[in-house]
Amino acid sequence: MHIHRYEKWWLTFGLASLIIFLVILGISAFHQGHQPPSAKAIINYEQVDQIKPFNEPGLKKVEGKEWDYELVVVASAFYYGPGEVEIPEGAKVKIIATTKDVVHGFQVAGTNINMMLEPGYISEYVTTFSKPGEYLVICNEYCGTGHHTMKSMFKVVEKE
Ligand code: CUA
Repeated sequence: MHIHRYEKWWLTFGLASLIIFLVILGISAFHQGHQPPSAKAIINYEQVDQIKPFNEPGLKKVEGKEWDYELVVVASAFYYGPGEVEIPEGAKVKIIATTKDVVHGFQVAGTNINMMLEPGYISEYVTTFSKPGEYLVICNEYCGTGHHTMKSMFKVVEKE
């Protein structure tokens, strides 16, 4: 089969760019610690309010686990429960989140926390809040007319 010289150049160019982009993507993903969301556990999204631990959203201290706190988050259109959380500086927190209705996002601005909350699934992420400050939590999955108003706030406070 005869391949024209220019066509060979373009094929080489196309393949090389593909490889370069994949390498950049791989390096940045590992460098920033990206990983697929857990979403291994399932839940009946119609009964989220009655199912533990989602019947009591909020931050709780836990003993004998790899993390110090568990933060239970329930998302619904267009609101996160709890709407504001105070987290002690340096706390290792396991975020456990789900949604009661449609797909919502859960992104903590200025961190690498960025989960998708899907109805029927539980998303989890363990992280340490080492820098005090206010962190805006936003929904980055379009979920309806109030999507742009959907937010929460993490306040990481210094230890006394
Ligand atoms: Cu919830 Cu967009």
